[in-house]
Amino acid sequence: MQDQLSALVAQAQTELAALKARPEFEAAKARYVGPNGALTALMKQMGTVPKEERPALGKLINETKTRVQALLDDALVGIESAELQAKLGPAVDATLPPPDLGPGTYHPLTLVREEMCRILRKVGFTVADGPEVETEYYCFDALNTPADHPARDAQDTFYLPEAAKFANISKKNPGEKYLLRTHTSSVQVRTMLKGKPPIRIVSPGRVYRRDTTDATHSANFHQLECLYVDKNVTVRDLKALLDYIFASLLGKDTKTRFRPHYFGYTEPSFEVDLSASHLPKVKKPWIEIGGCGMVDPTVFADVGYDPEVWSGYAFGMGLERLAMLLYGIDDIRYFYQNDLRFLKQFA
Ligand code: DAH
Repeated sequence: MQDQLSALVAQAQTELAALKARPEFEAAKARYVGPNGALTALMKQMGTVPKEERPALGKLINETKTRVQALLDDALVGIESAELQAKLGPAVDATLPPPDLGPGTYHPLTLVREEMCRILRKVGFTVADGPEVETEYYCFDALNTPADHPARDAQDTFYLPEAAKFANISKKNPGEKYLLRTHTSSVQVRTMLKGKPPIRIVSPGRVYRRDTTDATHSANFHQLECLYVDKNVTVRDLKALLDYIFASLLGKDTKTRFRPHYFGYTEPSFEVDLSASHLPKVKKPWIEIGGCGMVDPTVFADVGYDPEVWSGYAFGMGLERLAMLLYGIDDIRYFYQNDLRFLKQFA
């Protein structure tokens, strides 16, 4: 009997260690410790053994049972871990660092925005903010852009549904609609209504237009707006400031020029062109960068400033366009795709 028991353990050792799957395991378990298994059969033979040998033999059988059970437990652990491995797929080392780990970089638009604000702070401008959800009043009416003006066309502007409510944005006129601001010029109005002149603000931010996206257009882009209100402000001051900021950002060889234009909120109004052929990839002699002019007296009157006393200039420009010039980027879509190969080029 003793020999039979040790043979059983030896056999279990080799057989159970080789088990690969659960059905085989269950069958093996039944063969060793099940009601019709080998151990049960040996236990049943106890009756044939002389009485005095029984206690020692009983002990031996129990030990064997414990041994076999331990071997079964080990086999099950092995099978379970193989099953998990199969579910997880190829081996993964979870302790390895992720690929491309490294310090983050600033987005090129952030870099240009911050640099422009720094340049303007040096000459006394402070940064002002305004909401991206606006009302017709701040975006158009107060900027002398009447309801029949094409800029207000639903083709160009994203209007929000009639039912839209924005707790932090109050309507000036009950009937006016909410919209996504089409330019940062709305911040001019908000700033003037909030305070008294003199005013010197720069306001960078996101704007929205119903444009179809291509290499030079995006329905969502960024502008930078400036407003200066004081006594005796002239076009010369405006030109001098633009010369200063573009030379500071793009290098001292940069030139600016004005072309007469029309904006409802400035008179006279100009479009601003830059000459920056010293920059890599700049092929055209002049590049349009934004609009500007002397604040229209109608705008001053509307916010309660006496146009006989106060004068001022304003300008607005696209940040993407500036960043594209500065870094030689030829497609606006790169800014929004979050491709690390693009983003990591900007420190
Ligand atoms: N808001 C104009 C635009 O989005 C740019 C602009 C023109 C801003 C003249 C101004 C300005 O402040 O005076 O195209």
